[in-house]
Amino acid sequence: MPYKFPEKFLWGAASSAFQIEGAWDEDGKGITVADYNSFKRSDKQADTKVASDFYHRWEEDIELMRELGLKAYRFSVSWARIIPDGDGAVNPKGIEFYSKIIDKLLSCGITPFVTLYHFDLPYALVKKYNGWESRECAYAFERYARVCFENFGGRVKYWLIHNEQNLMMRVDERMNITETDTFRKEKIRAQMDYHMFLAHALTVKACHEIVDGGNIACAVSSTVTYPMTNKPEDVWAARLNNLFKTDYCLDMHVYGEYPGYYMRYLQEQNTVPDMRPEDKAILQAAKMDFIALNYYRTLTARAFPEDSEHPKGLRQEGMNEVDYDMYGYWKIEKNTNLTASEYGAQIDPTGLRIVLNDYWQRYRLPLIITENGLGTADTLTEDGKIHDDYRIDYIRQHIKAIGAAIDDGVKMMGYCPWSVVDLLSSHQGFRKRYGLVYINRSDMDLKDLARIPKDSFYWYKHVISTNGEEL
Ligand code: BG6
Repeated sequence: MPYKFPEKFLWGAASSAFQIEGAWDEDGKGITVADYNSFKRSDKQADTKVASDFYHRWEEDIELMRELGLKAYRFSVSWARIIPDGDGAVNPKGIEFYSKIIDKLLSCGITPFVTLYHFDLPYALVKKYNGWESRECAYAFERYARVCFENFGGRVKYWLIHNEQNLMMRVDERMNITETDTFRKEKIRAQMDYHMFLAHALTVKACHEIVDGGNIACAVSSTVTYPMTNKPEDVWAARLNNLFKTDYCLDMHVYGEYPGYYMRYLQEQNTVPDMRPEDKAILQAAKMDFIALNYYRTLTARAFPEDSEHPKGLRQEGMNEVDYDMYGYWKIEKNTNLTASEYGAQIDPTGLRIVLNDYWQRYRLPLIITENGLGTADTLTEDGKIHDDYRIDYIRQHIKAIGAAIDDGVKMMGYCPWSVVDLLSSHQGFRKRYGLVYINRSDMDLKDLARIPKDSFYWYKHVISTNGEEL
């Protein structure tokens, strides 16, 4: 039985500014945290200087999107292109660039779905305030968002605020946290997180004030954590991993206050952020219109006791920042029932059905997937093509999971595979590709940057044209 997707389902594809645009300092753009970090690795892999060269080839790329039949394109605006130093003068060239993109998309019948902030804080704000540590950064963000709503809000009705606040907060480099003292570092992190919540709330309000018919949401990094065994303490550990890494963030956006377990944790660690009494009303009044989620994989956890050397709440040293273990709470383990991508992401379409049901039942807000994809090396074969059946298989399984969730009663708005064209991976340069369109370059050789639709492009085109009935 084919799945029944809503008539106006937004079959989309996604990207982000620093990963696709290049032109990192052209036409007045300021340097961002994403540029700064990528330049540290310029001798080993691709950086943000050229990326996919979308800044110069956007017309060709949007023509490909038209050919694909996209209904929506989720992309991000670079804050530092609009306001190069983060809170100073507006750069007319930046406004002009995104205006052209929006007009072109609309002329191709593609709905623009705009993210305001995708890991690329203007670096000037780091120098000035240590970025999100300062409340000033939240106000600067609100002002930047207002500039975008005023200039683009007549044409753009779907907005996303922070991309993956919950995930970026865990990664020191993304937040530009350089403090080495463990306690101080966590205190800064909690304060930054709070200021991003405040910025989110101020931005929701601004969008509803300025954009007629505007819809706005966060884009959360989502996953499911399974218990390693059916021992109650493992079940609870798995639950905690979800609560602490994702759910607290959604709860904060939807209800405007930290859930009890999270506040208790902040109190136990002595990291409760500075919050002003008037913030409560701002946070609680900000009602998002939908939830956007990025989904790549699932995790498995078991209980992880504290001991005399490792107090509760201490992250295990040496663990990667995204999936860290925490003493007294959980330990992440490999799920041997699932296969993993070349880069270790455990592939799990059923997990997507679980997440969608979970969020819908909890928040009753319509959902859109703004990222989902397989990051892997691709080979340009002698016939001049990219035969990426593995990507087709991955996307097909995940679209089926969405179809199943719709059957379960979940209200779905759309689906955007990551990514529309190959782009700079957030950590692995151009070796790790996600695109429906191949970009002919490698990490260290720009070649001709030609655009070559992969087999997955033609397959997805057919899916769109049959509204998901033929997968
Ligand atoms: C998401 C980010 O977390 O994961 C994207 O929003 C990123 O920016 C994607 O590209 C895949 O991660 P990576 O590290 O493989 O690029």
